[in-house]
Amino acid sequence: MSSQPKLGILFTCEEIEATVKKLAAEIRQDYLSKHPILIGVLKGSFMFMADLIRLLDFPLEVEFIRLSSYGGGRKSSGKIKVVQGLRSEVKGRDVLVIEDIVDAGLTISFLLDYLRKKKPASLKLCALTDKPSRRQTPVTIDYLGFTVSDKFIVGYGLDWDERFRNLPNICVLEDEG
Ligand code: PRP
Repeated sequence: MSSQPKLGILFTCEEIEATVKKLAAEIRQDYLSKHPILIGVLKGSFMFMADLIRLLDFPLEVEFIRLSSYGGGRKSSGKIKVVQGLRSEVKGRDVLVIEDIVDAGLTISFLLDYLRKKKPASLKLCALTDKPSRRQTPVTIDYLGFTVSDKFIVGYGLDWDERFRNLPNICVLEDEG
């Protein structure tokens, strides 16, 4: 990969904004009186979480957990680690996990199992993007933004080797040549 890989816009900021609004409306309907804990999966979900919660006008709490599943490249190592754990008690709480992408599904399956053991009252998943063609383990996404084909995407929190998280659009990282 060159130092300036080619990027093509897949979803513009306007499309992302509309999709986040749609998701917020669905979440609002289901969680209005539940005082949920929203758990963002770092780092990728930080921008999505920030935009989403601004549209949720009811009591909620925000938590983050940091997992790591990818090495420095495009492929998952398959080994998931909790790099930074939760500070809140989730037992008996309505928990909504906020992810930027479900790819192989290994990361989120690990996290959902991890959280389920803590006995939340309910546990659901909101993912901004989904790449079902890459799935290695079944995952139910309760609130989904975009379905994408098997392309490497960056921007709006998503990285390639820690780059491009700051792009306002979601872009496709194109192969060289
Ligand atoms: C990415 C992404 C998801 C996960 C999806 O995180 O943010 O959490 O991989 O992978 P999977 O469905 O193939 O298991 P990553 O571990 O790269 O960390 P990051 O969020 O800090 O970029």
